[in-house]
Amino acid sequence: MEAQDNYGSMPLVDSATARLVQESWARLAGREDEVVKAFYARLFELKPQLEDLFVTTDMEHLRLKFADTIHLLLGLLDDPAALYGQAEQSGRRHGMYGVRDRDFRTGGEALLWAIAQTLGDDFTPEVRDAWAEAYTRVTHAMSRGRGP
Ligand code: HEM
Repeated sequence: MEAQDNYGSMPLVDSATARLVQESWARLAGREDEVVKAFYARLFELKPQLEDLFVTTDMEHLRLKFADTIHLLLGLLDDPAALYGQAEQSGRRHGMYGVRDRDFRTGGEALLWAIAQTLGDDFTPEVRDAWAEAYTRVTHAMSRGRGP
């Protein structure tokens, strides 16, 4: 129960991890759309059936929103209460879109791949691990928002 009691006030990741993801995202400034395009391309390559969820979606608009949301969430890594709130609301909406936990795992693979492609040599093992950790934590909070 203790972990449960702390939920919502504990930082999602430690400060070194937060710094690594924030700094590597800052290095991608101006190339966010490239990252997000690579993310969706990889997502649909890994699981073509996920494309069915986006048949009526304006992808150009969604890519902008996706990049803005990553930016917002990374900026909130030092403010756990606000970050959990945002993540849970987004998770609730994703539940309504039909996104499942296993899709978030595929999404993690796609996002790390997209960042690796765009960062090149700057995508060190430390940066990779930091993104994997941050993504897992944030999507865990999203899943909680979605409910059972
Ligand atoms: C951390 C990872 C993710 C982030 C930050 C994210 C972000 C967003 C944002 C900002 C939107 C716009 C609407 C809204 O905010 O509710 C959205 C919509 C959507 N996302 Fe995600 N998403 C993530 C992962 C995923 C994954 C793994 C899938 C799996 C297929 C997915 C599927 C969708 C769908 C189907 C929509 C609705 C599109 C529409 O409006 O037609 N998302 N996402």
